[in-house]
Amino acid sequence: MNESGEPSSSYPAQSSKRREPPAGGPVRPVSSVPANVPPARDPLDPADGPVNAPTPRPSAVRANAAVPTRYEPQPPVSTVPFQAAPEAVSASDTPQADGYGDEVDASTYVSRETPTREEDDPPLAMEAMRAVQILNPSGEVTMPRPDRTRVMCVANQKGGVGKTTTTVNLAVALALHGNRVLVVDLDPQGNASTGLNVPHHTGVPDVYDCLIDSVPLEEVAQAVEGIPNLWCVPATIDLAGAEIELVSVVARESRLARAIAAYPGHFDYVFIDCPPSLGLLTVNALVAAQEVLIPIQCEYYALEGLNQLINNINLVRQHLNPKLEVSTILLTMYDRRTRLADAVEQDVRNHFGDKVLQAVIPRNVRVSEAPSYGQSVMTYDPGSRGATSYFEAAQEIAERGVKEPVSRNA
Ligand SMILES: Nc1ncnc2c1ncn2[C@@H]1O[C@H](COP(=O)(O)OP(=O)(O)O)[C@@H](O)[C@H]1O
Ligand SMILES: [Mg+2]
Repeated sequence: MNESGEPSSSYPAQSSKRREPPAGGPVRPVSSVPANVPPARDPLDPADGPVNAPTPRPSAVRANAAVPTRYEPQPPVSTVPFQAAPEAVSASDTPQADGYGDEVDASTYVSRETPTREEDDPPLAMEAMRAVQILNPSGEVTMPRPDRTRVMCVANQKGGVGKTTTTVNLAVALALHGNRVLVVDLDPQGNASTGLNVPHHTGVPDVYDCLIDSVPLEEVAQAVEGIPNLWCVPATIDLAGAEIELVSVVARESRLARAIAAYPGHFDYVFIDCPPSLGLLTVNALVAAQEVLIPIQCEYYALEGLNQLINNINLVRQHLNPKLEVSTILLTMYDRRTRLADAVEQDVRNHFGDKVLQAVIPRNVRVSEAPSYGQSVMTYDPGSRGATSYFEAAQEIAERGVKEPVSRNA
């Protein structure tokens, strides 16, 4: 938990970089495709990341004095007996081929390291193609726009399930494809503001001012640099006090709803990133929204506690916001190597039916790296599986919004 709410405490090593202008820095320009297409990677290096990765990650190859490092010249293949005639390898030879013996060509064991890398990210050509699709530099590809503003509350009282990551990436994906999008950061930690590279240090006008002092949203919303059509209402640490201060404020549950309704921005989407609690801030988000999007992490305990959230949603619907419905469930941090993730997915699909998006977000290191550069994964590594999955999720949400009535009495 970030107690100070300052981005520097969350990402100490990167904080100063994030505030620098994008030219020449890690923030890549969105308008230029080649600059955004991930750089060629070393196919032999499972740990290879984008050129702007902060520090090289440790080699996955086991340290062994007898084994050459991956970057040293390799011994000629002909000096390795079993490589020269692989079909002649007998069962008794196989222990030698474990990649750690003196006589074994380094490529033998390097190739054993690569499947993990290939599982994580698609081949380069595919990556480049997807990058262009996701960044949409020509602006030609659009996602359907809803008839009226869809206000979506991204909620789950558990922390670390992907609320902020989902908010940021869906917002960027929709904005890159012709939708006008507003992100309201309603978490005092300000992670969504960090992820969108929007200043949110103490003193910056923020959502607290809107909730407590009735400052209009348009006075605090900031355009997100590099992403046309995307705005963010930041959260500073001041918001931490709002939960208590709201108690004595008139119409305390509907302050945000009023602020959003009064915003003349004509947005297609408003995403509200909730804090990990069911307090007054989350209630404000539920009262302001027509839809709830619940990210569910594909881990044990995933469904535990959800009843409490659903009960609160029902209470808000009964008493404060009859239009509210849980419209979307998104499975996040799916690790396909575990059976547990499969089991959780089945559970969630059985429980919530077609509210669950077909798109599932895998656990992907690019997704977790992106915020430390003040970016979404969509711009940080648009060819990665994380970006592709969020793009697919955004597309599904956009299409559902057109097929089904967006707000209805449930
Ligand atoms: N698909 C993913 N793959 C890998 N890491 C992820 C993924 N989604 C989120 N994370 C990481 O998990 C942590 C918690 O995610 P976050 O979106 O902040 O959750 P919440 O807002 O629910 O607390 C963050 O460090 C984030 O970078
Ligand atoms: Mg969060």
